Parts: sequence; structure tokens; C-alpha cells
Amino acid sequence: MLTQKSILLLGCGYVGKILGRRLLKEGWQVFATTRAPESQQHLKELGFNPVLFSRPEPLDTITHVLSSIPPSHAGDDGLSFLIKQKKKPSWIGYLSSTSVYGDHHGDWVDENSETRGETPEGLGRLRSEDAWKKWAERQECAFLIYRLSGIYGPYRNVFQRAIEGTDSPKMRKPNHVFSRIHVDDICTFLVKSLSLSSKFSLFNGADDRPASFEDVRGYAYSLLGHEVSFKKEKEEEKVLSSFSFFKENRRVSNQKMKEFVGEDLKFPTFREGLKDIFEKRLF
Ligand SMILES: NC(=O)c1ccc[n+]([C@@H]2O[C@H](COP(=O)([O-])OP(=O)(O)OC[C@H]3O[C@@H](n4cnc5c(N)ncnc54)[C@H](OP(=O)(O)O)[C@@H]3O)[C@@H](O)[C@H]2O)c1
Repeated sequence: MLTQKSILLLGCGYVGKILGRRLLKEGWQVFATTRAPESQQHLKELGFNPVLFSRPEPLDTITHVLSSIPPSHAGDDGLSFLIKQKKKPSWIGYLSSTSVYGDHHGDWVDENSETRGETPEGLGRLRSEDAWKKWAERQECAFLIYRLSGIYGPYRNVFQRAIEGTDSPKMRKPNHVFSRIHVDDICTFLVKSLSLSSKFSLFNGADDRPASFEDVRGYAYSLLGHEVSFKKEKEEEKVLSSFSFFKENRRVSNQKMKEFVGEDLKFPTFREGLKDIFEKRLF
């Protein structure tokens, strides 16, 4: 008899919920942690088995674990959680960030590039990646690090920010680019990656076209036209140098990820992704 595959989503936020729903459709049993007792009902309604982060029961049937939990000042809470579990999974994935690469002056970075991260986020991520990797090595399980660039998709996008008045049209810097990826393409990669059996795999997550804030916003606003009345900008005069975001400039290569998935991205650039979101009014 085939046993049902089961995954624990350590931290189940934006990516976790969309991935979990895809996995349910593929016959997986999905467990998902939350720190908020009141969120358990919502997780149940999604079809997941909620696990209260502060009071975990033994999760002996879990075969796969994916952590979406970002590093905290204290270290990595997702890793601390898993260390306390008696039975270890055979596959572990850690969602990291391309902030580990730091500033590459607009050059392309791939999985072999130097990790120059100097921001608190970049440094925290490097520490977490290292801690997860060392621990996973001792468990002798398959271990994946997936370094994500800016995540966007339904209900998390530039349209949403424009409507809420949290977009900052004055935030711009000549020749500054950043990479992003649509959540559907993240999940396509992740579903496929669950069958990886190598002891260590490292992938970047990005689309084909790094672009500036201005390019992305310009396209989104052109789609919006006059359909949306904007609230007054909240941040009129931000000093760019105060944004750690603008201190780093890099283009993230997705070549390895695309070769692994074996097909083109559903949303190769922000234009296809935003057009789809706009047409379906997912904001
Ligand atoms: N947003 C981006 O553009 C971007 C870019 C690169 C990488 N990333 C990283 O990619 C991962 C997935 O992104 P996402 O957007 O899906 O994240 P998300 O929506 O913030 O989800 C992460 C979930 O983890 C739980 N969590 C957070 N801190 C925790 C802690 N200290 N202890 C226990 N649980 C904790 C939270 O759930 P509860 O509150 O229910 O416990 C939260 O919903 C995250 O690590 C994110 O930082 C994001």
C-alpha cells in the first residue's frame, strides 16, 4: 500500500499557503505551523493540519519539511523547532533570500557567486543557511536551499500597494535593478524539488528579467490607467541612501532553476505576471 506523502510547512505565510493548496491537490497531507492560535481555524479551512508553533506535538509521520521562517535576532526559530522533533524528515527545504549575495554592482549572480551580504537581512540569512546546512548534513537527509528574489503575485503586488497608498513613486535610482519572481513559479519549482534526493542542492529563484522599480511601476500604472484613485503618497521625500535596498544592485540568474524545472516560467517577466494579475483583478 502506498503511504501518503506528508509535508510540514514551518511558517505558512504567502508562499506556504499557495504551495500547500497545490500539494493537497497532488495528494499530499499538509501540516502547517502558526504562532497564532486564532489562525489555526483558517489553516483547517484550507485543508491543512494546523500545528501550534509554541506547542508542537510529535510529528512522526512527516517525510518532508519546508521552512519559510525568516531568521530572528535569536537565531533560526524554524531550525530550533525541528531540532526538538524526535523523528527527522527525509527531505528538508529552506527558503532563503538573494540578499545573501549583497552588492554586485548590477552584475549577474548565480549560485556560485560570492555571498557579500552586509545588510542585517543578508547576514542573518547567511547564518541561517549555514546552521541549516550543518544540521541537515548530520541528519543525512536531502537538503535544499532556495534563494528567492522579490516575491510577487495575487494580492501582493504593485497594484495592491498603489491602492493602499503604500507605493512610493519617488523611490527611484538610475541604473538600479532588482530581480523578482511570481509565486506560481516558485511553487512549480518547489513541487518538483520535493523529489530531489541529493544531500545538498542550491537554487536561485528569479524570473528572466531583472528590472528597475520605475520599469515595473511604469508598466503597472499604465495598466491601471484611471481606474483606481490613489491615496496620497505616504512617503513623499524619502532619502534613497537610507534604504538598504538601494545599496545593493544585482541581477539574479535563474538558469539553474529553469534547467531543473525543464520548462519556461509561467511568468517569464514582470509584464506577463502583472498583466495576469491585472486581468484577473487579483489586488
Ligand atoms: N517577500 C519577499 O519578497 C521575499 C524575498 C526573498 C525571500 N523571502 C523569504 O521567503 C520566505 C517565504 O516568504 P513569504 O512571503 O511566504 O513569507 P511570509 O508570508 O512572511 O510567511 C512566513 C511565515 O512564517 C511564520 N513566522 C515568521 N516568523 C516566525 C518565527 N520567528 N517563528 C515561527 N514562525 C514564524 C509566520 O506565520 P505565523 O505568524 O502564522 O506564525 C509567517 O506567516 C520568508 O522567509 C521570506 O522572508 C521573501
